Amino acid sequence: MKALILFDSRTSGGSTEQLIDAIGQELAATGAIVEKAKCKSRGDYSFVADFDVVIMGAPIYYLMVSSELLGALLQSNLKQFLQGKKVALFLTCGSPELMANILYLPQLKLNLAGTTTLAEKIFAPDQTSNPDVIKNYVMELVDAYKKAEAK
Ligand SMILES: Cc1cc2nc3c(=O)[nH]c(=O)nc-3n(C[C@H](O)[C@H](O)[C@H](O)COP(=O)(O)O)c2cc1C
Repeated sequence: MKALILFDSRTSGGSTEQLIDAIGQELAATGAIVEKAKCKSRGDYSFVADFDVVIMGAPIYYLMVSSELLGALLQSNLKQFLQGKKVALFLTCGSPELMANILYLPQLKLNLAGTTTLAEKIFAPDQTSNPDVIKNYVMELVDAYKKAEAK
């Protein structure tokens, strides 16, 4: 599997960047090739075509998914290059999971028609550095990928 982690965060070295490094390491340990790229709302996402799976995630700031990821989905060619792709989603935020599922995840999912979601997870502050939680997310993703490939 060739996986791309497409992320945004305002905080260099913050909880989201630490989380994606941990996700990347877990995925690489399963034999996957992993690359990461930070979103730009007006970037060119034609390189997404090279990947089997696109893992997308960002923090919530002021009730919104961090602006460069949301902006990329709304303003760039990202949506076009995601068509037919397998994706996995994550968010880092301080809100309870139920609220995040209702308020925040749809901000991503409404822009992901034409994709197949392998896994999705809200990471609470105490979960972004929890190896077991991260491992479970990656295993769910890898299992779903294998099942989708076997079809
Ligand atoms: C300025 C600011 C605004 C935030 N607004 C929200 C919010 O509206 N809802 C929420 O659930 N969490 C909110 N959070 C919490 C962040 O989503 C959470 O701490 C996240 O892990 C930060 O990621 P980062 O370390 O990569 O910046 C906010 C954090 C900051 C710093």
